[in-house]
Amino acid sequence: MTSLTRQIFRSSRFYQSQRRNFFEKADRDWDKAWKLGITPWDLKGTVIPALKQAVEEEQYLLPEKFQNILIPGCGSGYECIYLKEKGFQRVTGLDLSATAIETARQLATQKQITDVKFEVADFFNYKTSSTFDFVLDYLFFAAIDPPLRSEWATAVSSLITPEDGLLATLIFPIRTEADDPNVGPPYPVLLDDYGKYLHPLGFEIVKVTQVTFYPLETIFLICQSYIICRIPSLSSREKAGR
Ligand SMILES: C[S@@+](CC[C@H](N)C(=O)[O-])C[C@H]1O[C@@H](n2cnc3c(N)ncnc32)[C@H](O)[C@@H]1O
Repeated sequence: MTSLTRQIFRSSRFYQSQRRNFFEKADRDWDKAWKLGITPWDLKGTVIPALKQAVEEEQYLLPEKFQNILIPGCGSGYECIYLKEKGFQRVTGLDLSATAIETARQLATQKQITDVKFEVADFFNYKTSSTFDFVLDYLFFAAIDPPLRSEWATAVSSLITPEDGLLATLIFPIRTEADDPNVGPPYPVLLDDYGKYLHPLGFEIVKVTQVTFYPLETIFLICQSYIICRIPSLSSREKAGR
């Protein structure tokens, strides 16, 4: 078993067995969780395989096409650093936790990546003068309380560049019949949970890719993920006066 599969294995077991516990231990406070090191989602330097697959194998995600990228709830920032290394121009990672952002900044410095922007901010109040042509959400939608999902979709929509912008989101952990969708974080999710909030805002699913997040030969579940990408529909472009 490689260190990556070991890490994912631990994370998978965590998601199955301790979903109810970890956030309580940190008093449901993200910064406290980071300070106490209760961060079982953190893959310790490993970039999520789904993003690597998208960047390295898929033609729709090219550095020359996507110049301004946002990762909300970026945590330790591995994906921000990876995207900079892959040649994407402007990458912003934001997180509510000052501790997480400090970790991300230190990692970037260690890797001599100087121009990635890490900001301490609440995504739901995040204001910026320019829009982003690529927003990556991995384990952020699943981390926020379900009543905030509509706000999440509105915020994503307002931050994405109309017409050409893309949202990629990792759907994980996938809900099973045994799961209570209101117990989290992470709150177990289904593809439909995203569509429910994104479709009314003019999002279209343009690609759904099943990616292996965990070796299939193991008996543990189902850690497959999906990526949704979106181009605003004609009706939303009309609303934007285009
Ligand atoms: C489950 S963790 C995932 C972190 C990272 N994406 C990863 O997978 O390693 C969720 C992250 O979202 C951050 N977060 C929670 N609420 C937030 C908010 N309202 N605005 C910005 N970040 C938030 C937390 O501090 C935490 O780092």
